[in-house]
Amino acid sequence: MKGVTGPLDSDAEVIIRDLEDDDLDWVAQRERDIFGLAAWSLSLIREDFLYGFSRWRGIEVEGLLSGYAVYGYEGDAFHLMNLAVVPEARRQGLARRLLEDFLAEARRLGAPDAWLEVATNNRGALALYREYGFEDVRVRPRYYQPEGLDALVMRLRLRP
Ligand SMILES: CC(C)(COP(=O)(O)OP(=O)(O)OC[C@H]1O[C@@H](n2cnc3c(N)ncnc32)[C@H](O)[C@@H]1OP(=O)(O)O)[C@@H](O)C(=O)NCCC(=O)NCCS
Repeated sequence: MKGVTGPLDSDAEVIIRDLEDDDLDWVAQRERDIFGLAAWSLSLIREDFLYGFSRWRGIEVEGLLSGYAVYGYEGDAFHLMNLAVVPEARRQGLARRLLEDFLAEARRLGAPDAWLEVATNNRGALALYREYGFEDVRVRPRYYQPEGLDALVMRLRLRP
């Protein structure tokens, strides 16, 4: 079985790894659970995974996938395209670790900035990104469809 079913032990083994083909059904199911109508479909996930340039990363707790992040270059901008942690494993620092993985890769590649979008009403994610120093750049009205929620574009400068 894949997925966390309860609170994590404080000494639980946590690793971040590249996702594999076999994980994509799990990702698509979690997308539906977490994002509902705005979820990425299995076909979109598969196409991006196979033919896109993004990095698909998963976080495992004691060998069980518990969250994922998708990031990479969009044009010149190094960008976090997706970040999610399963509800059962939240508030235990897993998103923080995935964000640090994203930032480590951005730095490794010499990206001048790290970029992301977040719904303006997503207080939890906003708190996380602000903790890491991401700054507000602009609002993209009705960016998230079909709900029509506004997105806040945020940037973290990685170089002076
Ligand atoms: C947002 C999300 C990724 C956070 O995952 P998580 O593993 O619970 O986050 P972490 O435990 O690493 O939290 C790190 C910090 O972020 C902030 N934070 C995270 N969730 C929060 C919430 N619901 N309310 C307030 N602050 C929150 C806190 O400062 C937290 O530190 P603390 O727990 O020590 O107070 C997760 O809630 C999620 O998957 N939500 C649905 C999908 C989503 O919104 N993705 C982001 C798209 S931009």
